[in-house]
Amino acid sequence: MKLGVNIDHVATLREVRKAIFPDPVKAAAIAEMAGADGITVHLREDRRHIQDRDVILLMKTIDTKLNLEMAIADDVVDKALEYKPQCACLVPEKREELTTEGGLNVLDNITEVTRVTKMLQDNGTVVSLFIDPAEEQIKAAAETGAKFIELHTGEFANAENEIEQMKELDKLIIASELAHKFGIRINAGHGLNYHNVSLMHKVPHLEELNIGHSIIARAVFSGLETAVRDMKELIS
Ligand code: PXP
Repeated sequence: MKLGVNIDHVATLREVRKAIFPDPVKAAAIAEMAGADGITVHLREDRRHIQDRDVILLMKTIDTKLNLEMAIADDVVDKALEYKPQCACLVPEKREELTTEGGLNVLDNITEVTRVTKMLQDNGTVVSLFIDPAEEQIKAAAETGAKFIELHTGEFANAENEIEQMKELDKLIIASELAHKFGIRINAGHGLNYHNVSLMHKVPHLEELNIGHSIIARAVFSGLETAVRDMKELIS
């Protein structure tokens, strides 16, 4: 299984001081040296962490691939069309949220999601849709033409006990089987950490995990290279 490292928190630390460091571009280089298979950033509409400059430089400097998390908002879609990241993950976005809360409601926004997916994919960017492990969302995702879904693992990660965790794991397994039947490729992410990540091996057909918070948090104590290497070892 591949590891996409989300480096938004490096930019968050920079932005709390509106400083020039720490630089997420440097973080991406270290993550790649430590075995990251891809770099993920979320260009939010309010630019609270990742800036346009970061995306531009990452596109010029990374050796792997850039996965741009983005809302279906005109400004960000225009930027994605201009910057041409290798991958884009469409996510819901609310200004007041601390992080992405829940998956994209593809079912209720199918026309818009299909339109943006086609524009991006025609422009050379492979699209994934960040969705909850729910049958109706997977069926809708299959109709949009998106090559990938990213299964939202937040409920699994937040489960309060082992029984709840296993129920959430089952939902991910069923969702992944269904998506695979529709010919969609499958990634997963949100809330994964050094303790719960090994259970992702029970979910079939997963290609890549996108992980941010736990890796950057551990890097504060261990250094980024060690934090990425340790996670890479756990998932591969
Ligand atoms: N995948 C998506 C779509 C996300 O929005 C995020 C958070 O930015 C992640 C994965 C990574 O989540 P975490 O930071 O909890 O590892």
